Formats: sequence, structure tokens, C-alpha cells
Amino acid sequence: MQDDDALKKKLDFLRGKVLKAVKPSEAEIKHFTALADQIMERLHAAAPKDVEIMLAGSVARGTQVRGSSDIDIFLLFPKKLKEREMERVGVGIAKSIARKHAGERIEIKYAEHPYVQLIFDDLGINADIVPAYKISNASEKGSAVDRTQLHNEFVNENLSEYQKDDVRVLKTFLKEHNIYGAEAMVEGFSGYLCELLIYHYGTFYELVRDMARLAVPVAIIPKERVSLNKEDSAAYAKRFNSSFVVIDPTDSNRNVAANVSIESLSRLVLISRRLATNPVSKNFFATRYSEMDTGAKLLKLAKSLDTDMYVLSAKAKDVAEDIIWQQTSRLRLRIEKLLSKNHFEPLLSLQGITENGALIAFFINKTGIGATVHEGPSAFMGAAAKRFLRSHASDMIFLRGDRLAAIAKAEFKTPIELLVHFIRDKREPFPSYLSKRDARIYVNKIDEKHAKILYRTYIEKFNF
Ligand code: UTP
Ligand code: MN
Repeated sequence: MQDDDALKKKLDFLRGKVLKAVKPSEAEIKHFTALADQIMERLHAAAPKDVEIMLAGSVARGTQVRGSSDIDIFLLFPKKLKEREMERVGVGIAKSIARKHAGERIEIKYAEHPYVQLIFDDLGINADIVPAYKISNASEKGSAVDRTQLHNEFVNENLSEYQKDDVRVLKTFLKEHNIYGAEAMVEGFSGYLCELLIYHYGTFYELVRDMARLAVPVAIIPKERVSLNKEDSAAYAKRFNSSFVVIDPTDSNRNVAANVSIESLSRLVLISRRLATNPVSKNFFATRYSEMDTGAKLLKLAKSLDTDMYVLSAKAKDVAEDIIWQQTSRLRLRIEKLLSKNHFEPLLSLQGITENGALIAFFINKTGIGATVHEGPSAFMGAAAKRFLRSHASDMIFLRGDRLAAIAKAEFKTPIELLVHFIRDKREPFPSYLSKRDARIYVNKIDEKHAKILYRTYIEKFNF
């Protein structure tokens, strides 16, 4: 690792280079702000008097990144409204302001609450319009989105302009390594978490330096700018059921890092260590790869490992991406387990989602299985032993210590037999939003559109 002064100097140099690329210019910011103001005016005109319109998110805080930040606008309703009513009215107002003739589109999104996305295809900008309750304190909150309005104040009052630029640098660093964003597909660091981490560590340089030698569990209280000691961290880790806890300064019951998976945290530690050891561009940015012939590349990968590639595709219902992603994960893990149990453990598995479906790929050794050993109960367990002997009457029985075991013909001789059984058998249900009826399995065959999606996840997972 570099000594601290040398590291600081080199990271400062990198910082400048990154900001040049990702910090919006004053003209761009003006343009963005004008658009936000204009949308807010339109909302103002359409909303009842007691609804407050508030700019939130990175645009309100000056932590946005060129080309990837959205405009976040909150419609803050008085608490006297019922939740469903507030959602209905809020979504109605947001929908009513779209100017279809000017090429603006609307999409209704579902998070904890429904919200509206106003899409400017020409400009490549989205505005999220989110209904929430107006609150002044976290204890008044009805749902998680209500907290957002409190975040603005903390960030604007506590982060310097220099630190806001460091937030932009951190977001870019995380984005490059596919760990930016709290959504299920990423399980990484949200924009607000980046803001809190920069506030806590002070600068991007200090964050990288400290992350390179992070030990878990760790609990951070940004409000007091302290990392707790080992014992107290362990207590927080237990309370929040997570080895990385960052307490929201606006709500001490909330772990802002709740969505950060242990893989994402581990990746941050690894990339920070690499950057701290050698603070050059190539260790800040991800390796670029070509999206050409990704199908051929995946097949080449299977061949080089001497495995077969099995791809399962299934249609999905039209619900939030997060949900489809989570269900695809669950399905993948279930099949993985079943494959392993039948001696076809996948060496690597990938998943992706398309506009209307889910994809899962397994790379499995070219093994065929003739027979397998079924473990039975102890000979001393009378009833169970009797049952085992009866159900294996036509198999070869032997003892392993006190335990009965049977050698039986394999139920599935090849992975494909198992996979086909899995998508056909009624006793193997799919998660609710994935359609089993439309499930297909391809062996060593993939169309380019699907390959692009899976190849990307392959690169993201295996890029170190
Ligand atoms: P965004 O996801 O748009 O984040 O959520 P952001 O801070 O504006 O960052 P970028 O630049 O667009 O990527 C908007 C606000 O909603 C709250 C935060 O206050 C955030 O700033 N939020 C969002 C959370 O508290 N938690 C989340 O998981 C997501
Ligand atoms: Mn945003």
C-alpha cells in the first residue's frame, strides 16, 4: 500500500480527471434545474393547495452524475389523507401533467408505493414523481419514502461542495464496478448511502484508504462521525441483522446500508484495496468489453471449461423489475440445489431479465450418472429403518457405520433429464410471476439477444 501522502496526491489527481468526465457543467446544471422547475410548476398548477411539491434526490443536493442521475420530485400530502387515497391522487396528478404531444411518456412504477416516471426520450432524462406524506420528523413517517424529504436537509447542511464532488466520484467508482444502487439487481450502495459515507469518512481518499482495511461487522453513526468499536458494532449487526450498518441521521431505527449485500461490500473492499495499492485510472474504471458476438463468447467459455451450457428462459408477468429479479434468483437457487443434490453441481450460474422474461444459465460438467447412494436412517431407529428397507426393496442395501444406505439407479442420468423434469413436473412450481408454461431449455445454444444480457452478468460477476 502507498504511504498516505502519496496516495492522497495520486487520488486527488484521479479525482480531478473523473470529475471532468462526470460532473455536470454549470450550463448543464442550469438546464436540468430549469426542467425540474418547469415540471414542479406544472405539478403545482395541477395539485390541491395543501400538497407541497419538493425537489429531492441528487439534483436537489448537488450530487448528481452526468448522464445517469434522474430528477426526483416528491408530492407531499397532509397526513389526514388515507394511504390509498394519497397514492391515487398523487399518481393522478403526476399523470395529468405529461405532454404527450411533446414526446413525454409516462410509466407507473411500483416500489413500496406506486410512483410515476415522466420520461423525456429526446433528452434522455427521467423524472420520478413520488407521492408521500409531509413529515418533519422520522417518527411521523407512514412509509419508507417519507424519510426522503428529511435527507435533503442533512446533506445540504452537512456536506461541503468539495464533499459533494467526492460523492460524484464515489458514485462513479461504484457504478464502474456494478455496485451502485440499492435495487435487488445490484444490492449495492444507494445515492444517499454514498452521501453519508463521504460525510463520515470526510473525503473519497479517506474512504478508499479505510475501506481497504475494513473489518466486519462494522456499524457507522454518520451523525456523530464515529465507527463503533468491535463490541458495539457486533450489537448493531445483530440488531439490524447485517454486518454493515450505517445509521440514518434522520432516523436512528434505519440502516441505510440494509440493501448492501455482503458480496457488494466485499467487492468495495477489494477494489478499494487495489486502488489504494496502485491509484491509477485502470484501477478506478472497470475493464471495458465488447458486446459483439456474446453468444459465441459464452459458448467458447463453456467449451474452454469443458462444460455444457444450459439456458432456461421463461416469460414473466408485467411487474416491477426488482420482483422479477428476486423471483429469478429464487428459482435459480432452487434449481442449483436440485442439480447439486443429483451430482450435477453447476460450476457457474448466471441470471438476467429481458423486457418480458427471465433467463438462467448453468455451466455444468459433462458427467453422466448411473447410480447414486441414498442415505438412510440408523439401524437403531426401528420404524424408520423398516420404512427405508421397504422403499428400497429392489436396491442394493449396505451399512455405513450404523446408518443404512442404498445404491439405486439414478433418477436423472443427465442434467437435461433433470431440467426437463423440472419444467414439466407439476410438483415443482415456479415463483408466482414467472410462467412455467412458457419455460424452455436450450443446451449449448443461445440467441444473441439473450446472450448479451447473460454475458453482461458474467462480466460483472467474474471481473476482478
Ligand atoms: P435516487 O435513487 O434517485 O437516488 O433516490 P439519488 O440520491 O437521487 O441518486 P442518483 O444520482 O439519482 O443516482 C432519490 C432519493 O430517495 C431516497 C434518497 O433520499 C434519495 O436521495 N432513497 C432512495 C432512499 O432513501 N433509499 C433508497 O434506497 C432509494
Ligand atoms: Mn435521483
